Amino acid sequence: MPISTINTSPFEGQKPGTSGLRKKVSVFKQSHYLENFIQSTFNALGDCEDKTLVVGGDGRYYNQTAIQIILKMAAANGFSHVWVGQNGILSTPAASCVIRKYKAFGGLILSASHNPAGIDGDFGIKFNTSNGGPAPESITSKIYEHSAEITEYKISNAADIALHKLGQQTLGSMTVEVIDPVSDYAQLMQSIFDFPKIKTFITTSDFSMRFDAMHAVTGPYAIEILENLLGAPKGTVINGIPLPDFGNGHPDPNLTYAEELVTELFSDNAPDFGAASDGDGDRNMILGKQFFVTPSDSLAILAANAQLVPAYKNGITGIARSMPTSQAADRVAEKLGVECFETPTGWKFFGNLLDANRVTLCGEESFGTGSNHIREKDGLWAVLFWLNILAVKQQSVAELVNQHWLTFGRNYYTRHDYEGVPTEQAEALIEHLQLQLPTLPQQQLGKRIVSYADNFSYHDPIDDSIAEKQGIRIGFEGGDRIIFRLSGTGTEGATLRVYIESYQDDPEQLNTDTQFALADLIQLADELAKITELTGRTAPTVIT
Ligand code: G6P
Ligand code: ZN
Repeated sequence: MPISTINTSPFEGQKPGTSGLRKKVSVFKQSHYLENFIQSTFNALGDCEDKTLVVGGDGRYYNQTAIQIILKMAAANGFSHVWVGQNGILSTPAASCVIRKYKAFGGLILSASHNPAGIDGDFGIKFNTSNGGPAPESITSKIYEHSAEITEYKISNAADIALHKLGQQTLGSMTVEVIDPVSDYAQLMQSIFDFPKIKTFITTSDFSMRFDAMHAVTGPYAIEILENLLGAPKGTVINGIPLPDFGNGHPDPNLTYAEELVTELFSDNAPDFGAASDGDGDRNMILGKQFFVTPSDSLAILAANAQLVPAYKNGITGIARSMPTSQAADRVAEKLGVECFETPTGWKFFGNLLDANRVTLCGEESFGTGSNHIREKDGLWAVLFWLNILAVKQQSVAELVNQHWLTFGRNYYTRHDYEGVPTEQAEALIEHLQLQLPTLPQQQLGKRIVSYADNFSYHDPIDDSIAEKQGIRIGFEGGDRIIFRLSGTGTEGATLRVYIESYQDDPEQLNTDTQFALADLIQLADELAKITELTGRTAPTVIT
């Protein structure tokens, strides 16, 4: 089959961010834009001859068009085998599972996660390595370097693959295997959790639940696992059909964007358990009846109860959390006598620790939780973990969380996002904070004394790499913290994130409203960063 070599020239800004290259669909649709990035990725990887690749995405607009181009470029660049999800669908965790299971060289995941989809929405591409996890900085920076000097790309002239047809097809000399997107993942989940116990809990007690797939990729996974395998009533999964524009929604499972689910779970007739996942299926939000579980608490609670799950019954080796995630998990690690790591934001920083078996569980405040079963965070896995614990303990979500706080104390936690801030203003604000850092330690601010103030730098204990400037941390005596950083996943302007945390172990003070409990720190954060003065914003866009 003939292969064409097409002349091209570089596009600016093909720099993968926290989670791959994310841009507006209109940017990706520019002639040669996608091709340049794919070729730069292949060039950065070096020899692709006879290698196996996994390809799939969250089903958003442009997914299948991009996949057809990628398949032809993979064939032209020497790959011998590609595993692709039927109709181009693979959730991010399922892609990680498939890469590992079939020992692929790596995978290309097409997703902009929870960012809105459709012709005016976002698109994204991420390369994952053979361990199933996002490529480390050393590879992404090479991709960027290649993208800045690319002069040509290679593409096969073969016909499109029938992506709806399961089984083997050929594209030139490359074999394309169209696979069921759900089955490998569903099998993996059954090997981790006690499905019979969860099934009995769901079908024989009066337990009721709702899962909101938000018109994104997790619909087919949740219907198969929760309804077909675990016997939850039909209709337990809502918004279960993936749509190219995600039904015009914003599939980010948090209190603001998962409005339909939140309204139901806080209503008088609320079910006992509610959960949602994001566009590509790696995030999760856990709700009880009129009860919200923060992602930071969720990580701590999963860790504290891990031995109740078959796959973790022999205990966990350690826990890792991203720096802005609350320190609730640290207390559990301490009690269990296992290591606890603080990494920069971004799932890729957990990969080395998981590969070296230094940690079993990982989590981020940004609604991500996962374990060593794959190398991505995993939304449905977290839901099943909760169901497994509830089934064993026969408790409600609120009972379980309250019991955890009584044992470990509560890390009150909130994140305030200021979206769409002009980049210069956001950078000026961080610079203004940076300049204050040397003067802050030992200062009394309100009722607290600053114990440290820095711009977080992470030294990876496995490969000795160093990631600098990962966010401004202001830590107070007693453990309270204020953290500021700019999001690495937005596509328009900058998003300032302010993370606020305060520890409380007085049993009488464990059920206060979060914003009220943190009010003085919130005010202090605004003063320190001069948020209103420097950005003109008087309130955050999103509070989680
Ligand atoms: C993605 C990444 C996460 C990260 C999150 C927030 O979901 O996979 O690892 O925590 O984005 O990143 P941001 O830079 O927007 O705060
Ligand atoms: Zn996601």
